[in-house]
Amino acid sequence: MSDSIKAVDWVDDALVLLDQTLIPLEEQYRSYTDVDAIIDAIKRLVVRGAPAIGVAGAFGVVIAMDEAKRNGSDAEALERRIDEIRDARPTAVNLAWAVERVCRFVPQGREAVLAEAKRVAEEDRASGDEMGRIGADWLIERLGKRPLTLLTHCNTGSLATTSIGTALGVIREMHNRGAIKEVYADETRPLLQGSRLTAWELKKSGIPYRIQPDGAAALAILTGRIDAALIGADRIAKNGDSANKIGSLAVALACHEAGIPFLVVAPESTVDRSKASGDEIHIEIRSDEELTHFRGIQVAPLDAKTFNPAFDVTPAKYISAVITEKRAYEIAKGETL
Ligand code: MRU
Repeated sequence: MSDSIKAVDWVDDALVLLDQTLIPLEEQYRSYTDVDAIIDAIKRLVVRGAPAIGVAGAFGVVIAMDEAKRNGSDAEALERRIDEIRDARPTAVNLAWAVERVCRFVPQGREAVLAEAKRVAEEDRASGDEMGRIGADWLIERLGKRPLTLLTHCNTGSLATTSIGTALGVIREMHNRGAIKEVYADETRPLLQGSRLTAWELKKSGIPYRIQPDGAAALAILTGRIDAALIGADRIAKNGDSANKIGSLAVALACHEAGIPFLVVAPESTVDRSKASGDEIHIEIRSDEELTHFRGIQVAPLDAKTFNPAFDVTPAKYISAVITEKRAYEIAKGETL
């Protein structure tokens, strides 16, 4: 159960998104019926999280078909609009994967594309329960059935998926089994997906939590406060190297040093077997403004140069296991995907 949060939905021939830029201050749903607005919503993180942008992109193709019909556009113009949706964010493979999957149905018409987009959403919803079960079994088998303190980074819950979530889905399942003492949620600079979104979801679910600055994660881990860390992924290469929100790599290194489990939890749709290793993953670089300003207020010299990658890649050697809806891949033991 995902506390009835619907980050992405299809209602009355429109894509409906819960505006994640406003949470936790406001819960506002917005309806989308044109392609430019959908692309803008994906780029500005109104909708975010790899599986959720995949589902939004899939429904976006239906909107692109509706728009093409309204404007009398030809097939080539439609294709260009669909490419723009697919390329709105480059790191999360789910977006390109879902758009390409529904595009195969374009020759069969709008209703066939819509039906496939709904299947993408439904499969994602079902995958959350499976990841939750497999991940919780994995942790309890290794750490014993006792209340654990878990650390997570970014937001991987119902806001980032159409399910109970990936890493946060495992945390929810652990909570249902009485196996959570507390969750440390990294703040997740610079857009605060941890303190704004994960904390909001944990509070709604009644799971004990605290937020910490990203810089406190290594200290929390190396001083024995954390039993295991769980994160999501935007793209996982065949060898297990995993791209996720910037700061994930630092958490993995600290877990490795402390000798505690570091789990990557993601649906199979996030696995990109065409990439042999993380070196081939394109990392999105975001604007200077995300660092020089905070909610419109200047917090750095205006001409400051920045380095603002949205994601980093954790090498497989630091990952204990990758949990998908199919199984736990024992990456630390040399298994690949
Ligand atoms: O930039 P975001 O907020 O889209 O980044 C999201 C993440 O890094 C998530 O951890 C990842 O997409 C997995 S979501 C289940």
